Amino acid sequence: MEKTFIMIKPDGVRRGLMGEIIGRIERKGFKITKAKLVKPNKELVEEHYIEHREKPFFNELVDYILDGLVMAMEVEGENVIEIMRLMIGHRDPKVALPGTIRGDFAHSLTENIIHGSDSPESAERELSLWFK
Ligand code: PPS
Repeated sequence: MEKTFIMIKPDGVRRGLMGEIIGRIERKGFKITKAKLVKPNKELVEEHYIEHREKPFFNELVDYILDGLVMAMEVEGENVIEIMRLMIGHRDPKVALPGTIRGDFAHSLTENIIHGSDSPESAERELSLWFK
């Protein structure tokens, strides 16, 4: 069974969206096999986003993730990586469709509520980083 890494970002936790998001994941039929509410350190967040370290938004992105608690989860199911990305929706709030998590709840490019791994390689890397 495929596994992915899902993180509810600080704005999602702060806005009380954990129940809504977990409910969507469970109603879809996926299983949450690990979960923890944590305040990650800078080293972990920088490592998580390492492939974007040269991007102009890197520091802003890291500071935003460090600004509160995040809910880190391992989610399991058939084709869960691709399907969770569909359920999350586009990162640009002008493009994210209603019915997706970002389309329903996010209006900012930076504060976009949730992260999901984008490939089997990323899922494996991110899960081993967050659930050592
Ligand atoms: S890129 O440039 O296409 O590689 O970027 P992308 O893969 O879409 O996004 C990488 C992660 O960076 C976040 N992001 C941003 N954060 C802050 N400011 C800006 N402008 C910005 N643009 C993209 C984006 O949400 C991705 O994070 P995750 O957690 O994977 O969604």
